[in-house]
Amino acid sequence: MAIAVTPLHEHIGAEIAGLDLSRPLTPATVKELWQAIDRYAVLVFHDQQITDEQLRDFAGRFGELEIGRSAAAGGRRRLAFPEIGDISNLDEDSQVRARDDRRRLDSLGNRLWHTDASYMPVPVVLGMLFAVTVPPPSPFGAGETEFADMRAAYDALTDAQKQAIEGLVVEHDVFWSRGQIGFTEFAPGEREKYPPSRQRLVRRHPGSGRKTLYLSAHASHIVGMPRPEGRLLLNDLTEHAIQRQFVYSHTWRPGDLVIWDNRDTMHRGRPHDEMQPRDLRRATTLDVGSTLDEAA
Ligand code: OGA
Ligand code: MN
Repeated sequence: MAIAVTPLHEHIGAEIAGLDLSRPLTPATVKELWQAIDRYAVLVFHDQQITDEQLRDFAGRFGELEIGRSAAAGGRRRLAFPEIGDISNLDEDSQVRARDDRRRLDSLGNRLWHTDASYMPVPVVLGMLFAVTVPPPSPFGAGETEFADMRAAYDALTDAQKQAIEGLVVEHDVFWSRGQIGFTEFAPGEREKYPPSRQRLVRRHPGSGRKTLYLSAHASHIVGMPRPEGRLLLNDLTEHAIQRQFVYSHTWRPGDLVIWDNRDTMHRGRPHDEMQPRDLRRATTLDVGSTLDEAA
């Protein structure tokens, strides 16, 4: 069955219609979806009814799946499959987490503009979020997820700016990003388990051939540059990249599945009514090599 692709924004995001994600995909459909990902970077599917197992199986067609920081930590979880990340404000018994709950405070780091797992030596590729329960709005947001097009942001730099940043290497550290919101209570051993990683700042996306800025809240400094200078450059580039013309904001409905490519986008969650459940489930595909070994 041919899929229908409708762009949602000038640069980034397309809605995909004509697919039931609970059913096995044909290789031809996987190929069509990859083409859409390479072109639009973010894909939106509405009105899906899938279990965690079906989400895992669907995502697994696009690459090996990540076991996230929280599932890797062990202990009792709300969700059965380690490949399904719990992107919710709920505890193991499906109760809304207390305001000072450590897991909740850690996950508030998702409100900063970031690309997932850039602190890992081999970072991730696709993120896939499925909405089960969507919360009511708050004064500062309705739990939207926003996506910035880092290819369009790169393209909009001047030639002199592009030249100045070509070849730069950035260090990414999850403890740096969490520290920015004042979260420093990591579980014992976690710091040792997730040391910083180095990533290329300018990447070439293998699917589209387009250059892209690889930035993230995890980005702590630029290798070989005095820290204050590198941080200010990272701030300037981030400020440039998150201008509204580069951003698609997704307002969730239950049954939405959103796929994004972490190699050429940044994303962030928005605030919502914290007293009400927000239940999203995430599958994530792994890359196969370091960004430092990629073709420039
Ligand atoms: C994520 C993430 C943002 C949100 O799942 O990787 O950053 O809106 N989520 O929950
Ligand atoms: Mn994220």
